[in-house]
Amino acid sequence: MKTFIVGISGASGFIYGRRLVEEISKDNLVKLIVSSNAYLVMEKEEGIKKSDFIKSLNSNVEIFSEKDLAASVSSGSQVVKTEGVIVAPCSMATLSAIANGLSSNLIHRVCDVALKERKKLVLVVREMPYNLIHIENMRKVTMAGAVVMPASPGFYHKPKTVEDMVNFVVGKILDQFDIQHSLYKRWRESEDQ
Ligand SMILES: Cc1cc2nc3c(=O)[nH]c(=O)nc-3n(C[C@H](O)[C@H](O)[C@H](O)COP(=O)(O)O)c2cc1C
Repeated sequence: MKTFIVGISGASGFIYGRRLVEEISKDNLVKLIVSSNAYLVMEKEEGIKKSDFIKSLNSNVEIFSEKDLAASVSSGSQVVKTEGVIVAPCSMATLSAIANGLSSNLIHRVCDVALKERKKLVLVVREMPYNLIHIENMRKVTMAGAVVMPASPGFYHKPKTVEDMVNFVVGKILDQFDIQHSLYKRWRESEDQ
């Protein structure tokens, strides 16, 4: 089994992180870090309690506190053994911390390590509109090697439910790591079959 590190930060769209972890952990190990602000957003958006969320995770998921800077995943020697790091959703605060090398919580730290070890780093940013500081930070992390993927669902697959829209974004993230899925119908897919 492959190992992925997933961070969920306090941007709107906790559901992106939750669905991503569900999908990846079907066949892979997930080291999961959820920020305290992400739990706050989860409660507001989904009405789920932190304890219930943690109970819902399957046995392939190991959860870490954002405060645990001494966790195994804090070290380059551990991060290099993984497929990389995904932050979904990624708040502008977390983006800024990554762009500026703060490493003040475990999500920032694993992203910093992924960049220094040249491992894949995917940031699923969520804000609207962007100010120039956000855009500059996206430019900085892109220059440093990260992939910035705004949580922008497409409509060409004709989504009918919120779940269809979420699955589109989650499917796009899985595509970055070559993980097989059928979460959305690819452009002209039915014509190919
Ligand atoms: C309901 C709610 C929705 C939010 N949505 C966003 C958002 O979409 N993007 C964003 O950058 N921040 C958003 N915020 C603000 C972040 O939670 C805040 O900046 C926080 O400091 C982020 O912390 P973290 O990145 O450590 O999780 C939201 C806050 C709340 C309470």
